[in-house]
Amino acid sequence: MMNLREPLPIPEVGAMKRAGTKIVMVTAYDHPSARLASEAGVDLILVGDSAGNNVLGYDTTVPVTMDEAVMLTGAVARAKPRALVIGDMPFGSFQASDADAVANAVRLVKAGADGVKLEGAGPMVSRVRAIVGAGIPVMGHLGLTPQSATMLGGMKAQGQTAATARRLLDDARELESAGCFTLVLESVPARIGALVSQELRIPTIGIGAGPGCDGQVLVWHDLLGINEGAAPRFVKRYADVAGEIRRGLETFAADVRSGAYPADEHEYKIAGEELRAFEADLRDGGDPS
Ligand code: KIV
Repeated sequence: MMNLREPLPIPEVGAMKRAGTKIVMVTAYDHPSARLASEAGVDLILVGDSAGNNVLGYDTTVPVTMDEAVMLTGAVARAKPRALVIGDMPFGSFQASDADAVANAVRLVKAGADGVKLEGAGPMVSRVRAIVGAGIPVMGHLGLTPQSATMLGGMKAQGQTAATARRLLDDARELESAGCFTLVLESVPARIGALVSQELRIPTIGIGAGPGCDGQVLVWHDLLGINEGAAPRFVKRYADVAGEIRRGLETFAADVRSGAYPADEHEYKIAGEELRAFEADLRDGGDPS
C-alpha cells in the first residue's frame, strides 16, 4: 500500500493562517476513511468524540471512553495519512486533573495521534498548559462544546450576546496563551467567528462559525450524506453516500434472490479429472487419495 505519511508540520498550520490559506479538517473514525481523506488532500483529521453519536450508537458524545478513543485513533493513524491526526479527548479524560489530562493525551499520542483536542476554557486552560508542557500539540474548542451542552442549555448556538461574545474572546486568548496551536469555534455567529479569528494569532477552525474563520471542519457522516436526518444549519451535504449504500445493498439482495449473483466469473474452478475423481469417490464411498 502507498505510504501517504509526510505529515504537515504543526508550525505549517499557523503559517497557513498567516498566508491566508484556508485550513481543511474533517472528522474520521476508521482506516479507509482516513486514507480517503488524505488522498483528497485534507490538512487535518479529527478523530472526534462525535464518533459517539456517528459510529458507536450513543445519543451524545458524553459516554465515549478513552479505550474507544484510543481504538479509533489507532485505526485512523495506521492509515498513515499525510493529514495531521488529532485525537479528541473524551468527556472525563481530562476534567479531573492536569495529571489525568497528560496521561490520557499520552495514550492518544501512543495510538498515533499527532496532537489532541479538548473542549472548554477556565480550569481547562491549565490542562492545555500541562499537555503542551509534555510536548503534545493541543487544539482548543470553544463556543458550543457538546460535552458540557447541559450547562450551556442544550445543543444551541453560543456567543449571541455582547457578554458571551466577550467571554468567548477572553477564553480564546487564554487558550492561545496556554499554547493551543489551533482553536475550533463551534456554533457561534459568523461575525463573532470572524472577529475572534482576527484577534488571535493561532488559526481558528470553524464549524457553524462562518467564513471568517481560518479553516472549516465538518463531521464525516454529515458532509458525505451518511447521516440523512435533520442536521444543524451549518451542515452542507457534498455526497449521498447513504443513498449509494442503500442502492448497492438492495441490488445485492435482489441479485441473490434472483440467482443473478454469483455468476460464472465469481466462481472458483476445479479441473475436470479432479471433479470426476471426486464424484466417483462419492459414488463409491471411498477415499480418492
Ligand atoms: O467531535 C467532533 O467531531 C468535534 C467537531 C465537531 C469539531 O469536536
